[in-house]
Amino acid sequence: MIVNTTHTIIGITCPFYCLLLQAMKPSILVIYFSQSGQLKQIIDNMLAPIQAHCTIEMVEIKPIKPFPFPWTADTFFDCMPECVQQIPEEIHTLQFAQQKYDLVILGYQPWFLSPSIPINSFLQSAQASILSHQKVLTVIGSRNMWLHAQEKIKEQLNRLQAQLVGNIVFFDTNPNLTSVLTIIRWTFKGQKEATKWMPEAGVQQKDIAAASKFGPIILEALVSNTSQSMHESLLAADAIILKPGLIILEKRAIGNFRKFSKYILEKGSRGDMARKPRVKLFQKLLFVGVFILSPISNLTAEIVTLLNKKSLKKDVQYFKNISYRKNAI
Ligand SMILES: Cc1cc2nc3c(=O)[nH]c(=O)nc-3n(C[C@H](O)[C@H](O)[C@H](O)COP(=O)(O)O)c2cc1C
Repeated sequence: MIVNTTHTIIGITCPFYCLLLQAMKPSILVIYFSQSGQLKQIIDNMLAPIQAHCTIEMVEIKPIKPFPFPWTADTFFDCMPECVQQIPEEIHTLQFAQQKYDLVILGYQPWFLSPSIPINSFLQSAQASILSHQKVLTVIGSRNMWLHAQEKIKEQLNRLQAQLVGNIVFFDTNPNLTSVLTIIRWTFKGQKEATKWMPEAGVQQKDIAAASKFGPIILEALVSNTSQSMHESLLAADAIILKPGLIILEKRAIGNFRKFSKYILEKGSRGDMARKPRVKLFQKLLFVGVFILSPISNLTAEIVTLLNKKSLKKDVQYFKNISYRKNAI
């Protein structure tokens, strides 16, 4: 049976379209990490409308030393340096049924404005050679700050000679400070659901459900052999919505994270007690930055947005796109 959405996208009527799809069943490999299951749910919803028309292989990245969920404050802040400096850790061996796919979907999340440790560990492992000379679509499940992480992913994909053909970003659409408060509740207490005073944390359920709209776009690009223009079609379906103010905030934050990560790493690697005082200092300063300086920071970001409208418009265009420019952030 052909789902209506896929039926209408190419504009060819069934049963001819059925036969065409059967003959050309595209193969999709999904490589992902999802700690709470949110990103997995997003990807499942995205592929649900097209699963009958593709072969889909799901491969989960599993760190040898798992990350606890909910987190403790100690382990959470202690992983910032390894995230920012992209220091890999060991992961379990992944099994792939084939060597060549029509599309590889890389599902990941930013941690401290950088690719999460499990994703980075995969990309830096020998197993990442599965991506070489393949078309890759990135799917991001974030709070709302993913720009720097995606630049690092682009660098890794370039190194691996993989071809980025699209990017879809899911984020918390609540105001920045609200999303910080709710993610703290989720991260340290495990409560994603809304409370009387605060909305649900992370990507909202309605947006997770709406992920299904992207499946047919992906399928059409694969069947009609137009993966090169897949990203344009995804953008037309609002695959990336980007507020200019967040570009300014992220540029400011990553500079500080870079400096602090080096400072902490001087005292040892993740889990090392010798670096604990520096991690605690980072935790305190982050708290001050987010909750005390944030109103000023937001205001200056708004002013900079108004003053630099032209260059920010260029930035928005760049970050919504899939090309790579060195030191863009
Ligand atoms: C250690 C850690 C750091 C995070 N840092 C960021 C960040 O810098 N930017 C952002 O948008 N979201 C950040 N998040 C939220 C994640 O990107 C992600 O949306 C959330 O953890 C749910 O992903 P999951 O599917 O792996 O459970 C962070 C989460 C964790 C656990």
